[in-house]
Amino acid sequence: MNPDGPKIKLYLAPLRGFTDCIFRNAFTRHFDGFDLAVTPFIPTVDTRRCKPSHLTDVLPQNNQRLPIVPQLIGNNAEDFISLATRLHELGHETVNWNLGCPFPMVAKKQRGSGLLPYPEKIDAFLEKTVASMPNRLSIKTRLGRKTADEILSLMPIFNRYPLEEIIIHPRTGKQMYRGTPDLETFEKCIALSKHPIAYNGDITEPAAFTALCARFPDIQRWMIGRAAVANPFLPAILKAGQDDFTDKVETFKDFYEDLFDLYQQVFSGPGHLLDRMKGFWTYFSQSFKNGRHIRKKIHRTHKLQRYLEIVEQFFEEEAAWDN
Ligand SMILES: Cc1cc2nc3c(=O)[nH]c(=O)nc-3n(C[C@H](O)[C@H](O)[C@H](O)COP(=O)(O)O)c2cc1C
Repeated sequence: MNPDGPKIKLYLAPLRGFTDCIFRNAFTRHFDGFDLAVTPFIPTVDTRRCKPSHLTDVLPQNNQRLPIVPQLIGNNAEDFISLATRLHELGHETVNWNLGCPFPMVAKKQRGSGLLPYPEKIDAFLEKTVASMPNRLSIKTRLGRKTADEILSLMPIFNRYPLEEIIIHPRTGKQMYRGTPDLETFEKCIALSKHPIAYNGDITEPAAFTALCARFPDIQRWMIGRAAVANPFLPAILKAGQDDFTDKVETFKDFYEDLFDLYQQVFSGPGHLLDRMKGFWTYFSQSFKNGRHIRKKIHRTHKLQRYLEIVEQFFEEEAAWDN
């Protein structure tokens, strides 16, 4: 990145089971680079049925380090307005609507990417919600449920509403995470949109980012998910345009220990804590030279004590940063 060029904004992507407020707080204590995070989704239910614990992740007191946009998933306009209004009372000026979730269980119910083949339903939803909710609305979407051209009939609909921005992950729902992002269709979306567009998908290292910036010079908002969990130095490196870090293992270890301690305080049993940590090591391991080995060892263990020994030994004897 050219530091004299346009000022880019980096967003932390929502990754359910990973980028909750605990992760976001630990992350920002040790790493820089993100301007904003979109939270993992909260299902919209009537707020009378919405338990206080549903909102823990988006409470202002849990989010003092990094601005957030809470994400909602659902297709019922009344429930959406009701939850958005509750979030506005908490101070959230913008909420995000998830039109991208690819999981069949969600999509089957015409939520997330499951709504994308129904432009008229999306239009009716926006017609009801945008005028009645007190917050601004942003959208995070894929290109379609089954085919990438579904988005092309949605862009004119989006253009009719005063949206904050549209974050596009240029894959279809059916694709899940297979294949590569469809940059041709993404380019068509930029041309069709009146709203600011943010790009999301497979920004894995500086070279990939430089290539995307060169191809889409008008895009200034970029969202990074999996690669930022795998390599938390990445956003700061992209912002600076260079990698000045030394002692990456040491910095990462401090972050990891913070993260572990914070999760230990909130999870009720060792099983939950171990499962959460196994999830994280699937990503963390990608940044270490001998990562496959530690990932396998961690995933084989069923005891928290054994897990702690494995990680301690790894940091003491083996850990070598790979990028
Ligand atoms: C484990 C996991 C959980 C996710 N949870 C959400 C979510 O709650 N809301 C959402 O909009 N996208 C979610 N996503 C999609 C990501 O936000 C992002 O769009 C996708 O990973 C592509 O970006 P990346 O290549 O930078 O990771 C999730 C992805 C993964 C892998």
